This record gives sequence, C-alpha cells and structure tokens, in this order.
Amino acid sequence: MNFVNCYEDVSRAGAYSTLEFANTYYLAYRDLPAILAEHVTGTTALDFGCGTGRSTRFLRKLGFNVTGVDISEDMLRIARATDPSGDYRLVPGDNFSELPAGAFDLVLSAFTFDNIPGAMKASIFRGLRTLLAPQGTIVSIVSSPEIYTHEWASFTTKDFPENAKARSGDVVRIIVTDHQDPRPVEDIVCTPESYRAIYREAGLEVARMLKPLAKGDEPYAWVNETSIAPWVIYVLKRTP
Ligand SMILES: C[S@@+](CC[C@H](N)C(=O)[O-])C[C@H]1O[C@@H](n2cnc3c(N)ncnc32)[C@H](O)[C@@H]1O
Repeated sequence: MNFVNCYEDVSRAGAYSTLEFANTYYLAYRDLPAILAEHVTGTTALDFGCGTGRSTRFLRKLGFNVTGVDISEDMLRIARATDPSGDYRLVPGDNFSELPAGAFDLVLSAFTFDNIPGAMKASIFRGLRTLLAPQGTIVSIVSSPEIYTHEWASFTTKDFPENAKARSGDVVRIIVTDHQDPRPVEDIVCTPESYRAIYREAGLEVARMLKPLAKGDEPYAWVNETSIAPWVIYVLKRTP
C-alpha cells in the first residue's frame, strides 16, 4: 500500500500543535487518569507517536516520567520547543532497538495506529510488547470505524461518502475542523475485530475496552458524541 504519513509536514505539524483537549478530543483523554490509576503500576512511560507532545505533556502532568517518540521530525521539533525539559526522540517507526527493553510500566499510543498500515500493526505491537516491564500495560487509543462516517465537534467526513464502503485496512479521509489545516488526513480504518486479531498475534490480551461517550452536560457542541463513540480505548497486557 502506498500510504504516506501526513504528519511529516511542517504546516500540518503547526496546525496539529494547536489542538488541546477540547471537543471530540476531550473524550479520548477524559477517562485516561482513571484508567491509568487502575491498570498501571510505576511511572516510567513511553508515548509512542507523541506528535507535537500533547499526549506526552498529559502523562507528565499525571506524574509519569515520559519518553516521547515519533517518526516525524516536523512534529518532534514542536514538541521539544513547547516542552524543553521533555524527552522527545526520533525513531525509525518499527525498530525499537534504541529503546530499553523491559523498561516501561506504560506504553501509550494515542491515535498513532490510525496512521499505521494494517500489515505493520502487529509487528509494531510485538515490538512495543518487548519494551514493557513485566507487569507493564499498553493503552491504545484509536479511532472507531464510525468516526469516518459521521460528523463531530472536531471533525467532518461528509465530503468522503466513499468512507462508508471502506473495509478494515482501507484508506479513509477525515478533516479536522478544530485547527487551521483544511486538508484531509488519510487514515487506515481498522475494526475492533481486526484490532483484537492484531493484539492476539502480537502476544497481547485485552484487559479492558472502552468506547467513550459524551454525557451531554459538557461545554462542547456535540454532534454525534452522546450516542456514537468516536474513539476506542484498549488496555492491553502481555498474554501469559
Ligand atoms: C494523530 S498524531 C497523535 C499525536 C499525539 N499522540 C497526540 O495525542 O496528540 C499521530 C502521530 O503518530 C506518528 N506515527 C505514525 N506512525 C508512527 C510510527 N510507526 N512510529 C512512531 N510514530 C508514528 C505520526 O508521525 C504522528 O505524529
């Protein structure tokens, strides 16, 4: 598949760096403090696909000692400038030999796997598994297939009716309306069934799966968020 990571782009990186935790993104991060308190022991964390550092700074504020890694230097440059005391590193994408094996209590990937083609997903999760401390946890936040076929506070997909025909592994398009870059992002849609097969293949088991919905009393102009979950959050442990 000829898939290009759209985050290797200076103006996309600049636009992405303005996103915080509002609107639809609020639902991706809202439950993380409780999830981490329940499932993670220890404070050493890897933020896999840290982008411009939003997810890394979130973990740092919760008290984690975080290494942020990404394949996009354009994204990392902004992460470092925004958070000069943070640890942000460029990685090849599927080779973790520069990172310490068995060292991380938590590996977070927030939206990273939306941009990784299907064939590479299992081998990357297998690599992340080797980085986990013995009781370590992976928290994988991904887009639900429904995000690509509905309208949202932070996104529009109405210009891409072909998304409805996409099968797991296909490229889909979505526009982020919360920032200034109107170009569509190209993602790879992946169903929960496919993710479960990928986790199994990578030697990981799903300890918990959440589909966060808005309650309706938040200060955001929800579109479908009170009835359809835009994200899926997986809590993963090594298969015994
Ligand atoms: C949508 S951004 C999310 C950034 C951040 N986690 C956040 O919540 O704001 C996804 C990031 O994953 C990165 N990425 C994609 N494939 C990757 C890979 N194989 N290894 C590391 N990073 C990757 C992209 O470059 C991009 O910066």
